[in-house]
Parts: sequence; structure tokens; C-alpha cells
Amino acid sequence: MKAAVYSQYGTPDVLQVKEVATPTPHDNEVLIKVKAATVTRFDCWMRQGTGPAGFGLISRMASGFNKPKQPILGTELSGVVEAVGETVTRFKIGDPVFGFTGARLGAYAEYICLPDDSTLATLPENLSYEQAAAVPYGSLTALFFLRAANIQPNQKVLVFGASGCVGTAAVQIAKNFGAEVTGVCSTSKVDMVESLGADKVVDYKTEDFSKQGVTYDVIFDTIGKSPFADSVKALKKGGMYLFATFGLPRMLQLFWLKLTSNRKVGPLATVEEHVEDLVFLRDLIEAGEIKPFIDRCFPLEEIAEAHCYVESGRKRGNVIIIVNDTNHVETRT
Ligand SMILES: NC(=O)c1ccc[n+]([C@@H]2O[C@H](COP(=O)([O-])OP(=O)(O)OC[C@H]3O[C@@H](n4cnc5c(N)ncnc54)[C@H](OP(=O)(O)O)[C@@H]3O)[C@@H](O)[C@H]2O)c1
Repeated sequence: MKAAVYSQYGTPDVLQVKEVATPTPHDNEVLIKVKAATVTRFDCWMRQGTGPAGFGLISRMASGFNKPKQPILGTELSGVVEAVGETVTRFKIGDPVFGFTGARLGAYAEYICLPDDSTLATLPENLSYEQAAAVPYGSLTALFFLRAANIQPNQKVLVFGASGCVGTAAVQIAKNFGAEVTGVCSTSKVDMVESLGADKVVDYKTEDFSKQGVTYDVIFDTIGKSPFADSVKALKKGGMYLFATFGLPRMLQLFWLKLTSNRKVGPLATVEEHVEDLVFLRDLIEAGEIKPFIDRCFPLEEIAEAHCYVESGRKRGNVIIIVNDTNHVETRT
């Protein structure tokens, strides 16, 4: 089968499309013919071998010190079940599926084997394969953090980085939870964030959300760039600061805030993915409540270009890799 592989850490050109052995499913696994995958920041960190700020060593311990242990990146996918192991009960051959591979990676390949109980579900009826591949990483992350804030109807929620992968999902999920949502993004992305349903959009190029006399029940920094002291001041007493990004300096500040302030801090942890959460998201999608935002689609052969684009930090929502023909390309600009 074809796969994008890398054998050393480095710039996007370490990724090369090659022929590798097609995997065979174990008794508890499904073999999926991958239609689409995505490029996320996590894939870029894994490829660089750096991890987030302050986590380089820990990251290398997991991914391999001198060279990557898992040569195929990609954490989320959509595709069709091609074969099932003897003990598999949740899926049958021909099922269209989408899901999250997590630390197992491996989605940049024509085929992947995943255990029956992994974070995998049948495709939402109203999404293309490209759109479905873009759901798990951003939406599971947004759901995990927003649930921790126990949002009540009409609470004020500010999403910082509202135009990114996690941010686009967070705006929509917070709206579904009944919040009044403010999104923070740059000038060129204001229309896009409004189209996601944000009640108010703050253009960080021309305005400072923390100087507008508004306080929030929840501030969700999805990309780790919110101004710390000003954000804390913009939180109501008892309000919660959610921080999706790993980054040691900010995590230490948040830990200190947790100990010393009457503001709360959300989980400083890796997202726990559960099948039930993916099914919950599929239900929201099928009800028309949320929809993944797709920026650009690249064929697998252009994987290096896709990584360059994501690494720029300027993408909107999600960047898709077409692995096998999907017959259904949808790109929003
Ligand atoms: N805790 C966990 O387990 C977990 C799981 C998944 C993900 N994460 C973390 O979540 C983060 C995900 O980020 P992502 O994938 O959503 O990012 P992304 O999609 O790469 O973010 C890109 C967006 O951020 C915007 N942006 C850049 N600078 C900005 C600023 N100063 N203010 C506001 N917006 C800005 C960019 O638009 P402009 O440049 O035009 O502003 C662009 O639209 C990663 O850091 C990852 O580590 C954590």
C-alpha cells in the first residue's frame, strides 16, 4: 500500500510517499481503507521531534529518541471497513467510519488496522469523507475542555483562537451548550467565525477583548496565545480558564493561578477520548448543530506541502489529506 512515511525528524520534506506492507487485522481489529486524514499541529510536532514548549524530552521519550518509532503520522481519518477480525462485533465489512487513532497515529496510509474498541464510529449521514475526517481531533478536544467548565445557558464564553481547528469546534459546541459566545480571531477570519454562530467576534489585530469592560464565565484559549494577566482579569470571580495547548511556562502560571486565585483552571491534561464522545458529536452533526470547517484538501502526494501550510499557524479550521479517492471533495474558503 501507499503511505507517507518519515524515518528522521525534521522539516516537512522528511515526509515521503512510499510503498509499505499492508497491515493484516488481528482478531479484535478492523482493517480500514482510508479515504481521508488530516494534518494537525500534533502531526507537525511529531514530525519535528520537538513537542510543545518545555516538553521536548518527554515527547522524544514517547516518539523515539533518535528516530521516530512510528514512521506513519496522522491521528484522525475516515474510510471504509475492508475486513474485520474474528471477535469484532461493532463493525462489518463495508461500514463507512471515522475516528481518532491518537498516539497510535498511522492515518497517512491507504490502510490501517484499529481495535474494535478504539475511538471509531460510523460516518455521520450528512458529511463527506473529507469533512468526517476533520471531526475527531478538534471536536473531541473542544468537547473535553468545555464539558469541564459545566457551561450553563447564557453564560459568557470567550474562545481565543476561534479560527483554528479546536477553536472552530469550540465556538459551535459552546453555542450548542447554550452559551453566549465571543470568538477572537484576526481580521481576515472575522466573517468565518461569525458564520460558525459566534454572537460576537473580536478582531485581535484591532481590538483587545480584555479592555472592553466585559467579563466572562469561561475563557477558552485553544492555541496558547491569550495574554495571561489580562485574560485572568477578564474572568468573572469563579470563572474558569481553559487552556488546550501544552506549554510549560503557561501551565506553571495556570497551576499557580489554581492555587492562589478565586478563578478556576480547567484540566491541564491530555484529552481523554471515548467512543461515546465521538457518537455524541456524530449526533450533534446529524442534528445540524455542528459542522467541521475545512480550509484546504491536499492529495497524499502533497503531504509535505500540507505540513508546510499547517506549520504556518495561519490555517482556518482543518486541512485534509485525500488518501484514496473520495468522489466527494468539499472545500470551503
Ligand atoms: N490537551 C490535549 O490533549 C490537546 C489535544 C488536541 C490539541 N491540543 C492543543 O490544541 C492546540 C490546537 O490548536 P489548533 O489545531 O486549533 O490550532 P491551529 O488550527 O493550527 O490554529 C491556527 C489558527 O490560529 C489563529 N491564530 C494565530 N495566532 C493567533 C492569535 N494570536 N490570536 C488568535 N488567533 C490566532 C490563526 O489565524 P490568524 O493567524 O489569522 O490569527 C489560525 O486560524 C494545539 O496547541 C494542541 O497542542 C491539545
